[in-house]
Amino acid sequence: MYSEKVMDHFNNPRNMGEIENPSGVGTVGNAKCGDIMRMYLDVDGAGVIRDVKFKTFGCGAAVATSSMATELVKGKTVEEALKVTNKAVMEALDGLPPVKVHCSLLAEEAIHAALWDYAKRQGIVIEGLKEPVADIDEIAEG
Ligand code: FES
Repeated sequence: MYSEKVMDHFNNPRNMGEIENPSGVGTVGNAKCGDIMRMYLDVDGAGVIRDVKFKTFGCGAAVATSSMATELVKGKTVEEALKVTNKAVMEALDGLPPVKVHCSLLAEEAIHAALWDYAKRQGIVIEGLKEPVADIDEIAEG
C-alpha cells in the first residue's frame, strides 16, 4: 500500500529534530486525525534555507511527508520553498494512498506556517504566502 520511498522516509526520517533559535517555526494540526507537525527553519541573510528540521506527532505518512518536505525545501530560497506543494511532496514519495493525502497537506501547511513566522520576524512580505489558517500554539494559548 505504501511506496518504497514512503517506507524509507518513515523508517529513516531525514532532518528530524528541532533547531535552536530558528528563523521561523510553524506548527499545524489536523483536527480530524489529531496529528501535529512542527517545522523549524534556519534562513540566512540571503533568504536561503540553510537548515530545516521537523517534529511530527502523527501517522507514518505524516512522518514520511515531513521528512520529504524538509529535503525538498533545504537549500532553497524562501520563495522557492513556498512552491513546494503537497503534490510535489507526494510525487517525490512516489504517491500516497488516497486516505493519506491529507498527511502531505499537513507538510505543505507546516512549511507555510514556518515561512509565515519567518516573514513576521523579519518584517517582510513573501509574495503569495497566506497567513496559516490556525497556529496550534496560538490555539493552545487561547
Ligand atoms: Fe492525519 Fe496522517 S492520518 S496526518
